[in-house]
Amino acid sequence: MRCLVLSGGRGTRLRPLTFSLAKQLVPVANRPILGWVLDRVAEVGVRDVGVVVAPDTGWAVREFVGDGGEWGFRVEYIVQEPLGLAHAVKVARRFLGDDDFLMCLGDNLLGSSIRGFVDRFEGEGLDGLILLKEVEDPRRFGVAVLDGEGRVVRLVEKPSEPPSNLALVGVYVFSRRVHEAVDRIRPSWRGELEITDAIQEMINMGCRVGAEVLDSWWIDTGKKDDVLTANAVVLDEYVVRDVRGEVVGSRVEGRARIEEGARVVDSVVRGPCVIGRGCVVENSFIGPYTSVGDGSRIVNSSVEYCVIMEGSVVENVERLEESLIGRNARVARRGGRGVVRLHVGDYSEVEV
Ligand code: DAU
Repeated sequence: MRCLVLSGGRGTRLRPLTFSLAKQLVPVANRPILGWVLDRVAEVGVRDVGVVVAPDTGWAVREFVGDGGEWGFRVEYIVQEPLGLAHAVKVARRFLGDDDFLMCLGDNLLGSSIRGFVDRFEGEGLDGLILLKEVEDPRRFGVAVLDGEGRVVRLVEKPSEPPSNLALVGVYVFSRRVHEAVDRIRPSWRGELEITDAIQEMINMGCRVGAEVLDSWWIDTGKKDDVLTANAVVLDEYVVRDVRGEVVGSRVEGRARIEEGARVVDSVVRGPCVIGRGCVVENSFIGPYTSVGDGSRIVNSSVEYCVIMEGSVVENVERLEESLIGRNARVARRGGRGVVRLHVGDYSEVEV
């Protein structure tokens, strides 16, 4: 079995960050989302991994994944114009050959291993297996309808009137028959070749397509709030107390990871949180569910439930909450109360 990891696309919902960064590289708990995705792939035991990248951001994905050695993979990069998930499968045809393959979206995080899911595909000799999750607002996703025996009867991408509340999680396993289906479908209303349509086509062709409902958490990190939720959940599950940096006149409570070279002075740090290498935290409060990227400075401020990416500065901010701050950004209060001075990039959002 091979694996295709989709790390291209446009990332429009995460602008402005994604003007300069692949959305799969946005960090949660100070590690790119894609790293967490590849951990799940590694658990399955596949070795040959094709990473689909976009022409403009592919270089940064390559820099992070490298030769895949960290996960024991042999990696091949496949450059794709972002024309849909099924289009990515089409472009990856030479890499995939006639092998069965696992396909994972590089921006979807899962709370449990997918090993049993892949075993089931192989054990039952299926042509397709999809992972589903009950959601409150299925309109944001691909949606599946199952019959009484749990077989997939219908799929629809981002329906305005969802026929069920079972969303397609971005994890699929396919036999080579998917390629036949991909060749038969046409672009959707959003101009993309949809994998959801290809799976529907497989069903129409009489292929055996199974479904499994995930019972752990799943987060599609499409928007800012999803990234913050993913950060909170990952910090909650993975962070242990590990204080390597220097702590002076401060209190560190709970599961806080303070990395080497960080300096925490006259502050309170309350986990779960991470403070990256070389950060300076001074006269501040770092509250739960916060990740502070390497080399950032937090001074005279209170920060909670935030992702602050590397090299950023937060200064004299009384309360910063539920915020996602990009790399080398600066957020500071200067001047009197009620005065706001901004230098904000395209598609940014500011709430004061
Ligand atoms: O997150 C689950 C949903 O993912 C499913 O419920 C939908 O059925 C499925 O179509 C997909 O919908 P999204 O609109 O969320 O897909 P998005 O454009 O965010 O792309 C998903 C991942 O695939 C993302 O990491 C970018 C990558 N991608 C996307 C496109 C369109 C590519 O590598 N190439 C592409 O052409």
